[in-house]
Amino acid sequence: MWFFTSPKIAFGEDSLEQLNAIEGKRVLVVTDPIVSKLGMLELVVNELKKQPRAFEVFDQVEAEPSFENVEKVAAAASCFQPDLIVALGGGSCIDAAKGAWVLYERPDLKLDAVSPMGKLDLRKKARLVAIPTTAGTGSDATWCAILTDKAQNMKLDYFASRELVPDYSILDPRFVLKLPRQATAYTGLDALDQAIEAYVNQWRNDFADGLALRSIQMLFEYLPKAFDNPDDRLARQKTQNAATISGLAFSNSQVGLAHATGHALGAIFHMAHGLAVGISNPYVIQFSSRDAAERYSDIARTIGIKEESAQKATEMLVELIKKLMTHLKTPLSLRGAGISQNAFDQNVGDLIGQTNRSTCTFVNPRVPDVEEVRKLFVCMFEGNPVDF
Ligand SMILES: [Fe+2]
Repeated sequence: MWFFTSPKIAFGEDSLEQLNAIEGKRVLVVTDPIVSKLGMLELVVNELKKQPRAFEVFDQVEAEPSFENVEKVAAAASCFQPDLIVALGGGSCIDAAKGAWVLYERPDLKLDAVSPMGKLDLRKKARLVAIPTTAGTGSDATWCAILTDKAQNMKLDYFASRELVPDYSILDPRFVLKLPRQATAYTGLDALDQAIEAYVNQWRNDFADGLALRSIQMLFEYLPKAFDNPDDRLARQKTQNAATISGLAFSNSQVGLAHATGHALGAIFHMAHGLAVGISNPYVIQFSSRDAAERYSDIARTIGIKEESAQKATEMLVELIKKLMTHLKTPLSLRGAGISQNAFDQNVGDLIGQTNRSTCTFVNPRVPDVEEVRKLFVCMFEGNPVDF
């Protein structure tokens, strides 16, 4: 049995005002130092001050948050006892808030004990509002969080529960206007890959399909515009909406092998998530097309590729994605991203191991064996097409 899950989503100009309609007498804002410096925290604080409520700010979330960092957020929550948690920032802030929310509500649990199978019983103490400041991860709409286990040097990708879908997501375009160009590119490519993988993986379903295709359409149209002209408000708003739609799509379906390889690359080489999955995406499509060409050709048709043959349409889709990446000044290979031959050779065993253990790998339309994962990483490193 499946459930479609979604937060209540406020979107459009001045949608931050919706924060006033959400009950909560003690509010903990979870953010990072950059968001705080860019004046976005001030916007939220000013909104919170319109109500007679107490609030506190934790602004030390780190990029790709570790268990230790999440525990610090949870300690702040235990101390302040909020009944509303507001996660303000990119995927890292929202994911750290999700992890801390669990520890705050369930101090008897360890982070690595959370899995989609267990019951968490959240919302006895607080509810969660997400205000994304990037247009990519879609974490404001999803049931999972990506946390880094530093001891194992890997990203935990099974920290998931339907209860973790935020209660509210607020998509006010003011929060993405200052997103730097490179972050615009990388987070946008993450959203694109999530939507593509949501559409093709083995858990795909009717409810996620339409969301995935619309998100892909919007990203192809508006991501280059938001990158070329950061002040293009419409392009900013559309990419922001597309990212959350992508989050809804994959949260109600799944992602796939490009996220498995992307998480491994992120953990081992500390690459930005969007860059890692962005580079992986075309190679994974080439690898998976043997078993999912019809699905990829649906995507190709959605963005205007008129080609009868499913295999050819998929090849053209890969070319359009590479063209988009080039437009966004994003490298097309791991070597191009600055990974040395030596670093690759030393770590390829670990990359393969982490990819093979990832839950995202098992739902990919074509599930690779160990040797295929190795060959896939070699293609990604060299920039060679996948022909096996
Ligand atoms: Fe992602």
